[in-house]
Amino acid sequence: MNDVVSLILIGSGIAIIGVLAWWLLIASEGVYLGRRVVIWLYDLYAHRYDGVKHYLREYETLYLAEPIMDAIAPQRDPLVLDVATGTGRLPLALARLDEFEGHTIGLDLSRRMLHFATESIYPYNERATFIWCAAETLPFSDDTFDVVTCLEALEFMTSPEAVVRELVRVLRPGGLILVSQRINTKLMPGKTWTSGEMQTILKNSGLAEAKAQIWQVDYRKVWGRKGGDSAQTGVRPLTSILRCPTCGAIQSRIDDNQWSCNACGSTAVIGKDGVIELHMIKSR
Ligand SMILES: C[S@@+](CC[C@H](N)C(=O)[O-])C[C@H]1O[C@@H](n2cnc3c(N)ncnc32)[C@H](O)[C@@H]1O
Repeated sequence: MNDVVSLILIGSGIAIIGVLAWWLLIASEGVYLGRRVVIWLYDLYAHRYDGVKHYLREYETLYLAEPIMDAIAPQRDPLVLDVATGTGRLPLALARLDEFEGHTIGLDLSRRMLHFATESIYPYNERATFIWCAAETLPFSDDTFDVVTCLEALEFMTSPEAVVRELVRVLRPGGLILVSQRINTKLMPGKTWTSGEMQTILKNSGLAEAKAQIWQVDYRKVWGRKGGDSAQTGVRPLTSILRCPTCGAIQSRIDDNQWSCNACGSTAVIGKDGVIELHMIKSR
């Protein structure tokens, strides 16, 4: 009898640990275990991401790229920042549009996701640049971009409100912001906001307007404009907008597969796939 009870207890213990591990690592994608685990999981599954998501080209055009270009018309050459770009979904959707003459900087902390982004953007390479770096401290000055986006990623951040403040900080006055968030939250309690909360956070961060709409059943898109007005930024060389994470200067050069800060001498490798590895900056 005792053996049976022991077996039941051991079996139950294993089942509980199994369910907990499934929930922490698979169902909630590591969000309760910190940034390192989230990024480790994205690195691990980067090769499967596009297959699982299966984004349809016509939907990406209809619900992402065209509405962005409509919202900023008549500008055709926006400087766009896509934070947590993953495998480059947004840069690709924009690059495929004939009327898009701008440039997207796609930034992510998963190096392997970015590698696949560089593959997917081909043959539109000149329309995007990918940078390996965290969303929490964006390496750009205030008011730099015409458009800033962050899709399906805020729920993975440890301090999403701080990231939203960064998104708004680097957006130019009058610029367009597009963020999305999961609304089917049963498996990620406490990690998402209501529509009202999200709009309040965006407005408190400096947006003059924020408008929410349901998207892809499980997500909410929020469109906003930064208060004020300013001239369009348009396409600019990366070396004239990238701020050195070490000293803050915006004087850099790109040569020999390396990015270097002219002011303090810090360097970052540019991988064979073209990704600028700012996350591994070597300070002088
Ligand atoms: C669900 S994917 C979304 C990717 C892309 N935006 C899309 O819509 O397909 C979430 C992305 O957020 C990135 N990410 C998570 N935390 C991050 C952080 N703190 N800084 C930068 N990227 C982060 C992950 O590496 C991953 O590529």
